[in-house]
Amino acid sequence: MTHPVPAGAPGAGAMVTSALPLPLVRRGKVRDVYAVGDDRLLVVASDRVSAFDVVLAEPVPAKGAVLTQLTAWWLRQLDGRVPHHMVSADATEIVAQLPELAPHARALAGRAMLCLRAEVFPVECVVRGYLTGSAWKEYRHAGTLAGEPLPGGLRESERLDPPLFSPATKAETGHDENIPRAAVVERLGSVAAAELERLSREVYAFGRDVAAARGILVADTKFEFGRRAGQLLLIDEVLTPDSSRFWPAAGYAPGRPQPSFDKQPLRDWLEGERAAGRWNGDAPAPPLPAEVVQATSARYLDAYRRLTGSELDVALTR
Ligand SMILES: Nc1ncnc2c1ncn2[C@@H]1O[C@H](COP(=O)(O)OP(=O)(O)OP(=O)(O)O)[C@@H](O)[C@H]1O
Ligand SMILES: [Mg+2]
Repeated sequence: MTHPVPAGAPGAGAMVTSALPLPLVRRGKVRDVYAVGDDRLLVVASDRVSAFDVVLAEPVPAKGAVLTQLTAWWLRQLDGRVPHHMVSADATEIVAQLPELAPHARALAGRAMLCLRAEVFPVECVVRGYLTGSAWKEYRHAGTLAGEPLPGGLRESERLDPPLFSPATKAETGHDENIPRAAVVERLGSVAAAELERLSREVYAFGRDVAAARGILVADTKFEFGRRAGQLLLIDEVLTPDSSRFWPAAGYAPGRPQPSFDKQPLRDWLEGERAAGRWNGDAPAPPLPAEVVQATSARYLDAYRRLTGSELDVALTR
């Protein structure tokens, strides 16, 4: 069913590609999405990892389970505050509802989420609490974000108070593009646009406070929303290392880039290969050494542990 990595190879036990007896809706860079009847989805987070917009050949063990279980952890806390798409992230429960998946239960453990299917708004709802990434790049050159002026004199990684709602278009390929809030109103109407901003700010503020108490800064994060039976739903992954920049609070200082919590070993190694002239920055990337794969896996597990205060159940990571 899945395509497991051979024992002994880097990433052994990890999943590159799922293959389930359900209609495949799409394969993203990281997640495989299947239809469950007309109105639900099974979202399966693989252990694929991307860096510098290139998907690496080697999977990162436990990464898919971290993404799914961290999203589930946040969504449970948002129950009753923000309507969301999660039905279950417990493979035993999912298999009980979908007996045709029984032969795949082990492969799904930890990484699968049964969701309510929504009509996705074509806008990435980014909230920025610190000035970094594409926002810093534009600000440094033009003093603006998505063409709109920001206060002068901000430094790289500076805290933004209040946080900025910074929508972007969902690009089919390549980088997402930051757009002004007026463009969201144009696309979705003022009522939906205001609601997306309100919910994005609320979820970000909640996540920022929880993470801060655990020594993690949520520099920025991306949410997706959809509509279902006239109601807005928070969908997709929520406050994970793949949808957010997490920085260790210890050692934070504006005026320079901050180390990222998760893919830093991977990025550092790839940068080294590039600097040495062994990689030109395009796909395919050079094969990752086992210790880089392991270090990256450990970072994802550490992000889960630090945020939730518990170890990810290892039964969910194989
Ligand atoms: N409840 C939902 N209803 C409908 N679509 C959803 C729901 N939850 C998530 N999705 C969609 O499922 C997909 C998840 O896949 P994934 O994040 O791997 O790929 P992507 O974001 O489309 O592309 P990539 O990450 O490769 O740039 C996204 O397209 C997301 O919009
Ligand atoms: Mg995505």
